[in-house]
Amino acid sequence: MKPHDWIAILDYGSQYSQLIARRIREQKVYCELIRFDTPAATLAARQPAGIILSGGPSSVFETNAPLGDPGLYDLGVPVLGICYGMQMTAKLLGGKVTPGHSREYGKAQIRVAANGDASLLGDLDATELSVWMSHGDQVVNMPEGFHAIASTPSCPVAAMANPARRIFGLQFHPEVVHTPRGTDILRKFLFAICGCTGDWQMSQFIRDSIADIRQRVGDDHVVCGLSGGVDSSVVAVLIHRAIGKQLHCIFVDNGLLRHGEAEQVEQTFGKAFGLDLHVARAQDQFLKRLKGVVDPEMKRKAIGAMFVEIFAEEARKLGHVKFLAQGTLYPDVIESFSPIGGPSATIKSHHNVGGLPPDMKFELLEPVRELFKDEVRALGRELGVPDAVTNRQPFPGPGMAVRVLGEVTAERVTILQQADLRVQEEIEKLPNYRDIWQSFAVLLPVQTVGVMGDSRTYENVAALRVVESRDGMTADWHRVPYDTLARISNRIINEVRGVNRVVFDISSKPPATIEWE
Ligand code: XMP
Repeated sequence: MKPHDWIAILDYGSQYSQLIARRIREQKVYCELIRFDTPAATLAARQPAGIILSGGPSSVFETNAPLGDPGLYDLGVPVLGICYGMQMTAKLLGGKVTPGHSREYGKAQIRVAANGDASLLGDLDATELSVWMSHGDQVVNMPEGFHAIASTPSCPVAAMANPARRIFGLQFHPEVVHTPRGTDILRKFLFAICGCTGDWQMSQFIRDSIADIRQRVGDDHVVCGLSGGVDSSVVAVLIHRAIGKQLHCIFVDNGLLRHGEAEQVEQTFGKAFGLDLHVARAQDQFLKRLKGVVDPEMKRKAIGAMFVEIFAEEARKLGHVKFLAQGTLYPDVIESFSPIGGPSATIKSHHNVGGLPPDMKFELLEPVRELFKDEVRALGRELGVPDAVTNRQPFPGPGMAVRVLGEVTAERVTILQQADLRVQEEIEKLPNYRDIWQSFAVLLPVQTVGVMGDSRTYENVAALRVVESRDGMTADWHRVPYDTLARISNRIINEVRGVNRVVFDISSKPPATIEWE
């Protein structure tokens, strides 16, 4: 599936490469991050409307510096080099780059050259622009045919252009928010220079994917593990649109989900969407396997192994199935192309199914591998997946097992599900609910003394965890209003048997993690 106009972003390993892709897709232009050394002939065959060379941590002076195929400048396609991408362009086309003695990092003011090229910076109606720099090396002699279109006192070539060949370089980063006119600059490149139309839409993505899936699958069958999470749900609904009853979904109810979640999955996907849903009710098997296990990593291993066993058993019952559908997302794929290491795409993909028994060989079907998480949400909405699913908070695979600290028993899981339900009901009422990454209850393995009516109690403590995060890698605790905290605490203590104390977790990550185990 390739829409007619798309931008190829050659990835030289910058921490901002994904951001370039995001900015471009926000302009409704399709783009892909591809290998930094993709041969010019491969690029030519795919006919991009433009090529962007990303920044990167390397210096062109390093012996193993990642370099693009010089032929890419001769394709007649506009090229924009950003930071390292610009230095590499200068070097490959015969200019001169000098090693920086000090790193220029942070905000800078660039002066736009009066005689500059109008197509990229010239007609932004600004003589000065505030930009974000992050570089050591800099271009001192530009290749033939280029001229400087912006400068700073310490960086005479802050941007360069060869309008005749439509090759441009920016020493700064237009993709970050600290370059306020950065989007305008990228828009110039996309629309004025590359001639993109900006009509890339989810509906088009759906049409193209459906055609793709039908062609690839033919008369064969596909199996998909449905967890109720965003990615697998959207993938299942999309594939179902393409091939209907040739898709078989397996939902493993491990008994460790949130209150009512298993029923919701059956209702939404089995009944409302009419998917061929096979529910494996395996609560008892999971609990049995978890008996006596208290170490968090052992819990994860036991649950992972159990899941694979049950999934494989269900898949075998289906008979001949050629494809396994997975909700692999773009960020999982991109890492693999980084020139500075990172696992290869194949290792990642196989890793996802690595646990399946050797007799089960599937081809992978990963229809959203070119989308970002929020694009998958948008796709889900377009496909009619309910908001409750598309906006769902992340939920760990091992579920409640890593939130019931210590040994997991049926009774303790029920107590936690009941406490957690109260947390959800109250937190969902907050006007800024969308700012919250995760909110949940944790059942601690301690008992404390309380008093209810005239009697002394000796019961469990529930902790409340509510965090904000962008990606789960770092997190801060959300400043939950006192009234909400009070309501949650009252409701849990009064309505949930077995809990007589509620505490609020005010640790950030790092050093704490989001989950307690
Ligand atoms: P931590 O606790 O490491 O969590 O700060 C970061 C994010 O990952 C989720 N998480 C998991 N997800 N299997 C999963 O699928 C796991 O074993 C697991 N452990 C943590 C967690 O909910 C948070 O969003």
